[in-house]
Amino acid sequence: MSPMLEVKNITKQYGEGEARVMALNGVSLVAEKGDFIAIMGPSGCGKSTLLNVIGGLERLTGGEVVLEGQRIDTLDEDAFVGARRGKIAYVFQQFHLLASLTALENVMLPLVLAGTKSDHQREALAILSKVGLEKRARHRPAQLSGGEQQRVAIARALVNNPSLLLADEPTGNMDQKTSNEILEMFSRLNREGQTIMMVTHDPVIARFADRVVNLKDGQVVNGSN
Ligand SMILES: Nc1ncnc2c1ncn2[C@@H]1O[C@H](COP(=O)(O)OP(=O)(O)OP(=O)(O)O)[C@@H](O)[C@H]1O
Ligand SMILES: [Mg+2]
Repeated sequence: MSPMLEVKNITKQYGEGEARVMALNGVSLVAEKGDFIAIMGPSGCGKSTLLNVIGGLERLTGGEVVLEGQRIDTLDEDAFVGARRGKIAYVFQQFHLLASLTALENVMLPLVLAGTKSDHQREALAILSKVGLEKRARHRPAQLSGGEQQRVAIARALVNNPSLLLADEPTGNMDQKTSNEILEMFSRLNREGQTIMMVTHDPVIARFADRVVNLKDGQVVNGSN
């Protein structure tokens, strides 16, 4: 059986000539189902770029991304969205919740967009209670703390039951206590079988992840496989 995710010798170039930056310069890695992989390295080493090309927010310059045996980097926009739907979900440092929607409505949104026939509200409430926020379902993002907003964002990411959860510095703006709570939550999700790939600056994360991939200047310096 093919691994959940194979990243094969990928490159990502920004700009041309003197402005050229090789944000990724031959990165390969494999994620198996149930893995919790932390991506670390100094600012500018390519961590966000790596997540973005896996998540399809940006196009590769070279190499391959294979998700559950299907090559996804060559798909056009529509096919990519279809291939990724329900398979890859994203959690950002800045949450990116919709300010005019309640917590519940934010979590329901992916179900509405996917057009599933299920009871969106009931499913979204179930996921909100999984992140401990059922009592905040009717609150808007501005009425929630940073940690709570991130838990809503995690619930929104989980609602379509993704194979792979990508998170780019999800605790970047939090104090240590809130950060630890969010990391505990990722760790619990991972123990329940969720495959996670997380970018972080925080060495504490090493205790939660099973594997650390260190990047430097767009290349893996250890922890690859
Ligand atoms: N849109 C862009 N255009 C040009 N260069 C870019 C662009 N996005 C990123 N880069 C460059 O690519 C390199 C990798 O950027 P990336 O955002 O992946 O770093 P990072 O490891 O996530 O850093 P940080 O820890 O600060 O978030 C950097 O040198 C950056 O300046
Ligand atoms: Mg980054």
